[in-house]
Amino acid sequence: MNVPVDASVAHPARRYDYWLGGKDNFAADRESGDAIAAAFPTIRLSVLENRRFLHRVIRHLAGVEGVRQFLDIGTGIPTRPNVHEIAQGIDPAARIVYVDNDPVVLTHARALLTSSPEGATAYVDADLRQPDRILGDAAVRRTLDFSRPVALMLVAVVHFIPEEDDPYGIVGRLVGALPPGSFLVMSHATSDYLAPELVADIASGRHGQGRLRTRAEFARFVDGLELLAPGIVSVAEWRADQEPQPRPTAADTAVYGAVARVP
Ligand SMILES: C[S@@+](CC[C@H](N)C(=O)[O-])C[C@H]1O[C@@H](n2cnc3c(N)ncnc32)[C@H](O)[C@@H]1O
Repeated sequence: MNVPVDASVAHPARRYDYWLGGKDNFAADRESGDAIAAAFPTIRLSVLENRRFLHRVIRHLAGVEGVRQFLDIGTGIPTRPNVHEIAQGIDPAARIVYVDNDPVVLTHARALLTSSPEGATAYVDADLRQPDRILGDAAVRRTLDFSRPVALMLVAVVHFIPEEDDPYGIVGRLVGALPPGSFLVMSHATSDYLAPELVADIASGRHGQGRLRTRAEFARFVDGLELLAPGIVSVAEWRADQEPQPRPTAADTAVYGAVARVP
């Protein structure tokens, strides 16, 4: 879906970029980002920990599980190291497809198309709410071999899909297209640790559409899959023994993360 850049309303990719200290954001993104930060002061720590979770997961999947194909939906504005930089650092033959629906991310897509010659990267301008359009996309089919394991990365994106858009159906459709031995990687903002006023503020739609979910609601996304240890935990805690200690608390991040194998 191609929509023109609208600088007057906050967009998730640009607000996330602002929290990460990037420059690709507008006043509306900064205002929304500051309002959320005022009510949830650890938001910048939370987004940094979400990125670190992403890095550790790719190192684990590429380095330990032998995954060589990644479908990263809700990529965000390129932030180094990007998925392909980590995966191809482990095996230059790794193949990565990036998908996002934000026109600003599209304008930066060149930074994602810097594959090693042995591997491949592609960028697809598409919406998570159209899983069949993604699965049928020519660049997706050309880049990924769906007869071999694929890691489906849905990192900090499904919380932008409200119930009326059928998030469980969307994730189920994508996971259903993956062969056994594939993985679902997911992180998702939760209401479990947030003040009721902030939960209500986000639910009002003032910061754009989205839906915080409880741990039980997160667990439904990985139902029927084989959760890797340590299961559903704060992104700061997922296999983080080598990270600086003590780790931020689950309340500091308010983002759950998990990795699950497709049986
Ligand atoms: C918070 S950022 C996360 C970026 C990256 N996955 C990470 O965790 O560092 C969310 C991204 O999802 C994208 N996004 C939101 N809704 C989407 C949708 N319906 N389809 C595709 N991308 C979407 C936004 O444009 C943004 O780039």
